[in-house]
Formats: sequence, C-alpha cells, structure tokens
Amino acid sequence: VTTGTGPGLAGDRDDYDALMADADTTLVVVTAAYRGERAGCLVGFQCQCSIEPARHAIWLSKANHTCRVALQASHLGVHFLDRADHELARRFGEQTGDEIDKFDGWETIDGPDGVPLLVACPDRLVGRRRTAMDDGSDHICFVVEPIEVQRARRTRDPMRVADAADLTAGHAAEERASET
Ligand SMILES: Cc1cc2nc3c(=O)[nH]c(=O)nc-3n(C[C@H](O)[C@H](O)[C@H](O)COP(=O)(O)O)c2cc1C
Repeated sequence: VTTGTGPGLAGDRDDYDALMADADTTLVVVTAAYRGERAGCLVGFQCQCSIEPARHAIWLSKANHTCRVALQASHLGVHFLDRADHELARRFGEQTGDEIDKFDGWETIDGPDGVPLLVACPDRLVGRRRTAMDDGSDHICFVVEPIEVQRARRTRDPMRVADAADLTAGHAAEERASET
C-alpha cells in the first residue's frame, strides 16, 4: 500500500507504531564530512538492503545537520553500537552539530574523503554513497556500498531503540529545515 503524502494511516497509526516498537531495531551512529565540516547523528532507521552486491540503507531526518552534510559527502561512516556505548549514543542523539562540535572529546580517524570514524566504536562500515532518495517524507534515504567493514568486538550486545528510551533527539523530525 502506498500512503504517499496524503492523509496516511488514519486509525491504524497506533498499530503501525506498535509493530515498529516490536521490531526494536539496532542503533548506529552515522558520520559524514564535506570540506572539513564534520557531522554525525544517532540513527535507528537503517538496515541491509541488498545481498549481492551488499548495500546498506540509512534514513536521515531533513531536520538534522548530519543530513545536510551527508547530501554533499561521498562516503558515510556507520558505527554499530553496543549497549555499553550509551554515552556515545547520548552525545550523537541529543546534541546537534548546528550548535556544537560533537566530535570534541572523541578520538577519530579519517576515513575515505575525510569521513570521521569514531575510535570508541570499532564495529563499523565505511560506505560509498550510491543514491539519495527523497520521497517527500521527513527523512532522506541514503544507500551506500560497504567498502570497508570491521567487526572488532567478538561478543556483541547491540544497542536497540528501546535501550535509548531515555534520550531526547536533538532535532524533532517535524522541525524540517526545508521542504526539499
Ligand atoms: C533512539 C533515537 C533514534 C534516532 N533515529 C534517527 C534516525 O533514524 N535518523 C535520523 O536522522 N535521526 C535519528 N535520531 C535523531 C538524531 O540522532 C538527533 O536529532 C541528533 O541530535 C541530530 O543531530 P545533528 O543535527 O547534529 O545531525 C534518533 C534519535 C534517537 C534518540
């Protein structure tokens, strides 16, 4: 069913929200850079979206600083959080690059084209941007081709959306920077 930008799911919205809460997806921090400007935010809308070749999809809110930088960037960093990474989740999920340098105090290394890679979260991929799709909703879909992948922690306990219930997003999705 295509809901488009019309009235949407009406009375079924609560059921949809409950189904998505049941899914309880894992959380990542997505990073990007363009001409020395660094950005990154906490992301729950993300998943593998092709097997061969491998592709990964990330949805960034149009309200976010990270989205604006990612639209200019050639590569994205995707850091797969463990439950122990709560301080990193708080930093990148509650603060906005519109106001502070979120990377201050966090060690990084430069990946391809300067994409910042967070040393504190060594389970990550670097993705080369393939497409960015805007369907008129409040997020833009970025599809990346993983070109470097590292799984450093042998036992993982992934952080999920429910583990971040105490966090308040730095930007609400309805704060749309533009109607692009
Ligand atoms: C649990 C949780 C999940 C989030 N998922 C997403 C997401 O999928 N996409 C997104 O763009 N922002 C998401 N956010 C919001 C951003 O991480 C947040 O607004 C951040 O402060 C934006 O920073 P920026 O303006 O520096 O990019 C999420 C926040 C939380 C707390």
